[in-house]
Amino acid sequence: MPKSLPAILVVGGAGYIGSHVCKELHKNGYTPVCYDNLIYGHEWAVKWGPFETGDISDRNRLNQVFAAYRIEGVIHLAAFAYVGESVLDPAKYYANNVAGTISLLDAMRKNSVNRIVFSSTCAVYGIPAAVPITEKEPLNPVNPYGASKMMVERILRDYHHAYGLGYIALRYFNAAGADPDGDIGEVHNPETHLIPLALDAALGRRNELVVFGNGYPTPDRTCIRDYIHVTDLARAHVLSLKLLDKNELPGLSVNLGTGKGNSIFEIIRAGEEVTGRKIRHRIAPPRAGDPPVLIADPSQALKMLNWKAQYTDIRQILQHAWNFHRKTDTIA
Ligand SMILES: NC(=O)c1ccc[n+]([C@@H]2O[C@H](COP(=O)([O-])OP(=O)(O)OC[C@H]3O[C@@H](n4cnc5c(N)ncnc54)[C@H](O)[C@@H]3O)[C@@H](O)[C@H]2O)c1
Repeated sequence: MPKSLPAILVVGGAGYIGSHVCKELHKNGYTPVCYDNLIYGHEWAVKWGPFETGDISDRNRLNQVFAAYRIEGVIHLAAFAYVGESVLDPAKYYANNVAGTISLLDAMRKNSVNRIVFSSTCAVYGIPAAVPITEKEPLNPVNPYGASKMMVERILRDYHHAYGLGYIALRYFNAAGADPDGDIGEVHNPETHLIPLALDAALGRRNELVVFGNGYPTPDRTCIRDYIHVTDLARAHVLSLKLLDKNELPGLSVNLGTGKGNSIFEIIRAGEEVTGRKIRHRIAPPRAGDPPVLIADPSQALKMLNWKAQYTDIRQILQHAWNFHRKTDTIA
C-alpha cells in the first residue's frame, strides 16, 4: 500500500470487535491497517486492509509501522479482557493494558499522531449506585481489568491536557452479535461471554450453560446486562474519528449501550427461540463482584457522536450471532 494513502491504525484489529471496526472503516472509505500480535486475534478476520504483526509493547515495531503508512489516527482495542484472570494475575493485566498503552501513546507522539479512540468498558464503574449508568457515575472498578481501563482513561486525560492528544474513550457495555453479512463474528478462546456459551450449549458443543447466581434483586433473579450489537459498536468508532477530525481535539468518555437490559434467563429463552434448540443450563453460585444490573444511559453518545444503537431487539442480535457461530467449528 502506498504511504501517501491516509490510513487508520487499528490496534487489536484481528480480534472480535476490532475486525468489525475494520469492516466499518473500509465501508466508510478509510483504510484500516490492522496491528495485532495474534495472541487472541485471528488472521482470517483481517480482510479490509493490510495486516502488520506486532505487540504494543514493541516500540521499534510500532515506529516501523508508523513510518510505513500515513497514519492519521489510532483505534486502540488491544488488551487482555478476562476479569477472573485479572484478579489472579493483575501484573499481566497492568503490563499489557496499561504499560502497553503507554508504549503505543509514546509511539504516537514520536510520529506526530494525535488522535485516538480507546476501547474502555462499563467495568470502570464497578457496582454502580444508579442505573441506567451515566458517565457522571463515579469510577470504582472492582477488579484489575476494570482498573487497568480506568488508568488508561486517566492517562489519556493527562496526555490531552499536557500534549493536546485528542481522545474518545468508548465505554462498551456487553458486546454481542456478529456481522449481519456473516463475514466475521465472535471467537474467543477461552470463551467467557454468555451468548456464544449459550449457543455452544444449543449446538451440543458443551453439555450445559452455567448460570452464576439466581438470587439477584431482579425480576427473574438473574443478572441483567445491556447487550450492544458489535456493528453498532463499530459504527461508533467511525463517528468518533469524524469528531476527532474536527479542529478542536476533544477528550471524552462515552457510554455505548442500548439503554435496555436483558436477564440471563431472557437470553436463554431468546436463544432457544432463534436456534430452535434447547439450551440446557445449571445454576452455580454467584461470582464475586458481579453487579445485578448494568445498563447504559447512552444519551451522551447521541449528543456528542450522533450515535444510537440500531439493533435493539435481542432476538436479532442472537440471530446474527447464531448465523456466524454455527459455522465456527470449520473456521476457527
Ligand atoms: N467484548 C466485550 O464485550 C468488551 C466489552 C468492553 C470492553 N471491551 C474491550 O474491547 C477490546 C476488544 O475486545 P474483544 O472482545 O474484541 O477482544 P479480543 O481479544 O477479541 O481482541 C483483542 C485483540 O487485541 C490483541 N492484543 C492483545 N494484546 C495485544 C498486544 N500486547 N499487542 C498487540 N495486540 C494485542 C489480541 O490478539 C486480539 O486480537 C478490549 O480492549 C476489551 O477490553 C470488550
